[in-house]
Amino acid sequence: MTTQPIAVTSSRGPMNMASERIGRLVAVTGAHAIILLDADDAFSASNDASPEIGTLLKVDTEATITLALVSALSSPTPSHENPEQEMRIVEVEFIGELPKDDHGNPKSFRRGVSSYPGLGDIVSRASQTELSMAYASDEDTSIRIGHIQQDITIPAMVKIDELLGKHFAVLGTTGTGKSCSVALILRRILEKNPKAHILLLDVHREYASSFKEYAEVIQPANMSLPFWMLNFEEFVEILIGNQPNREQDIEILRELIPLAKARYAASTRRDQAAAPSLRSKDPGDTMNLGVDTPVPYRSSDLMSLIEEHLGKLDLKGELAPFKRLKARLETMTRDPRYAFMFGHMTISDNMAEVVGRIFRIPVNDKPITVLELGGLPSEVINVCVSVLARMAFDFGLWSQGRVPITFVCEEAHRYVPSDKSSGFEPTKRAISRIAKEGRKYGVSLAIITQRPSELDPTILSQCNTVFSMRLTNERDQEILKAGISDAAASLMEFMPTMGTGEAVTFGEGVSLPTRIKFDLLPRHALPKSSTASFTRNWSIDVPDEGFLEAIVARWRMQSYDVGYEDSAPEAADFNPETGQFVEKEAENAPAGAPQTDVAPQPAAQAPVAQPPAAAPAAAPAPAPAAAAPAPAAAVAGAGSSLLKKPLDVAGMAIGQPAAAQPDANGSQPQPAAAAPAAAAAAASLRKDTGLGSLLQKLRS
Ligand SMILES: Nc1ncnc2c1ncn2[C@@H]1O[C@H](COP(=O)(O)OP(=O)(O)OP(=O)(O)O)[C@@H](O)[C@H]1O
Ligand SMILES: [Mg+2]
Repeated sequence: MTTQPIAVTSSRGPMNMASERIGRLVAVTGAHAIILLDADDAFSASNDASPEIGTLLKVDTEATITLALVSALSSPTPSHENPEQEMRIVEVEFIGELPKDDHGNPKSFRRGVSSYPGLGDIVSRASQTELSMAYASDEDTSIRIGHIQQDITIPAMVKIDELLGKHFAVLGTTGTGKSCSVALILRRILEKNPKAHILLLDVHREYASSFKEYAEVIQPANMSLPFWMLNFEEFVEILIGNQPNREQDIEILRELIPLAKARYAASTRRDQAAAPSLRSKDPGDTMNLGVDTPVPYRSSDLMSLIEEHLGKLDLKGELAPFKRLKARLETMTRDPRYAFMFGHMTISDNMAEVVGRIFRIPVNDKPITVLELGGLPSEVINVCVSVLARMAFDFGLWSQGRVPITFVCEEAHRYVPSDKSSGFEPTKRAISRIAKEGRKYGVSLAIITQRPSELDPTILSQCNTVFSMRLTNERDQEILKAGISDAAASLMEFMPTMGTGEAVTFGEGVSLPTRIKFDLLPRHALPKSSTASFTRNWSIDVPDEGFLEAIVARWRMQSYDVGYEDSAPEAADFNPETGQFVEKEAENAPAGAPQTDVAPQPAAQAPVAQPPAAAPAAAPAPAPAAAAPAPAAAVAGAGSSLLKKPLDVAGMAIGQPAAAQPDANGSQPQPAAAAPAAAAAAASLRKDTGLGSLLQKLRS
């Protein structure tokens, strides 16, 4: 089958006609101005000559070159008879200027306008040099993330300190390229800053493949987040939840937890008396133990305390809450899903170790932690996010910002919803605290969401740099438009029609609000977030019964580490030479251009918009399609050729609920060992459905 290029969008080529006059100023109101387009220009054969929303124009005055962004285009008196007589106007927002030196040469760009142009002043397109100056950034402290839409030769740069120091957000409807953009931004940051400290919460388990060489991938199976590091509210959430009569249970816990902490502290003191060299590590010595103090205690001590009370009481009503707590604590300490919290038989004060691993201190060549939380019950995910956000903030606070940390939160609307009644209060509080005060302590937030309107607006308002990809929902668009400059707001008009991998960026991390196209991520770094190919998958049957057994095993074990290998990547992605997304058949696609991290080169080397037939099929040959399932293996109903680990029919995986099955010694089951790295990243096909890019395609 032939390769079909699917243009996401075509960018304009270098602006060679750049400094052409396009019209003159006919109204100026503050930062807003109206330009009457020259008749010739408006009807020029080359559409490239007439400006679009987002085009950067200039008014060249004696002292400065004033730059203005097109915010609206209109023809107030349309006419069928004499279209060439129509008046065409362009509305612009002044956004900055290039002051001139004594010789009249423009110096570096600055935001704001010191002297406003007047009526009748000539307006032209900004030249390539002026565009470069306007969008320029210091190479050492900035990263390239793509190119601006107006001219593909002008890189879109982001200033790292401004981006991270004051939080950023990546927004967009599902499938518009948020995860890819986040992976691209973070990879470029990591290339420049190999000693970074980034924590990425990965609920969909998609990022491990994007950061292979950079990441410490932590999954529930290899994670340790001891329950004693939870604060009281978090512990109550997982132990008691929203059950009726929770007040009684909460009061009992409030009383018993400090006692359990004191017991542990006392036992450590006894041990230390026997081994005085350990003495300096004793936490109980110096502090007043409260419910929220993050010091260790044993769940067995808590259990004994509950049992002691049970032994002393005999009224049925009084016994009930103790019994409930005991039963719940027993269940949790045996539940494999909670093994990362309750799994350690011996408790030790390993807080520094836990914090060090999560926040990469020391970095040990892995500057990013990808925390895969997928598969955990939602209340546990909530609690984990709360603990981690709290830990990040407290670490920044107590280290006085010595080690800046970036906390990347995918699906942020889940944790900090706008709806006051949903979400988990401590998680909301912890993330809001980073958003509001994190900057002072070197803790920054990256928020990724597909539903900005469902995200707490105070969080969004704290994000000083925004990358907004396609947003189709009107409420989402409105939320975003509120409170931004008119120039940025006018760019937002593109939001419903932008192609995959395109964004409108504004805020402190970028020099100007602008529409950009992200560079293509190399195939090996794509997040594993491909859209299921229904047509491909529905053209073959699933022949092996073992497949279902394997899925059921995963389900029951609540672990992705059993069952079967994740399937190989889908054979569809983009052509880095043309900048177009291509659909290709797994069997026929030729081996082609290597994928690199290097951004696509400007039009001189790479044709921008190729007609379909001429587009080279440059994408590399896909990995072989997922191995066809083999026949079921020997153990009927349990093992299968698809299974990575043979399943024990008599054990907890098959036939019995995992949570109820301690092992023969009565000790809690240990989590499955960490799986080998998942199969290579899947590159899925995205067809560009954006109207804007279709128009551009037609034009070019
Ligand atoms: N910069 C890019 N480089 C390469 N491919 C990209 C890029 N941006 C988007 N894509 C393509 O678009 C697809 C969808 O992107 P992505 O998974 O990032 O979307 P998303 O917005 O995160 O979706 P969701 O909200 O469902 O998580 C990717 O699988 C990839 O093929
Ligand atoms: Mg995503």
